[in-house]
Amino acid sequence: MAKPIFVLNGPNLNLLGTREPEIYGKDTLDDIKAKCEAKAKALGLAIDFRQSNHEGELVAWIQEARTGASGLIVNAGAFTHTSIAMLDALLACQVPSVEVHLSNIFTREPFRHHSYISKAVKGVICGFGAAGYELAIEALAGLIKNKRPS
Ligand code: DQA
Repeated sequence: MAKPIFVLNGPNLNLLGTREPEIYGKDTLDDIKAKCEAKAKALGLAIDFRQSNHEGELVAWIQEARTGASGLIVNAGAFTHTSIAMLDALLACQVPSVEVHLSNIFTREPFRHHSYISKAVKGVICGFGAAGYELAIEALAGLIKNKRPS
């Protein structure tokens, strides 16, 4: 099987389910992980699903993806709006990547409208709740397939 898709989740996403459910939905992070695993399996792919509240750990995982992953899905949480370090790691990463947000960041506070990491990803999915992760896996499946030798 090909290298897994890394699904990296940033700060406070471990609290999903109880954290502002009117904004982020009722799914826990484990629920989202199960949905991602099912979607990946249906597409013949594997995922490696992780969460950290620490910027440096997320940067290290993006670096690991350079050789260890076939694709990358990143919900950087609040680091989306602050982290040049994550941007630089993604720019160096070279594997196809998708930025995901559960909420529509553009309908929220102005400080959430800017993402540092968007510059380094293939595309952005936001506002579809947990389904956004599954959409990102579908998008990456197409990109990864196109890169495989036929
Ligand atoms: C988020 C949006 C961010 O603005 C916020 O800081 C998060 C979650 C989302 O998934 O909607 O933690 O990335």
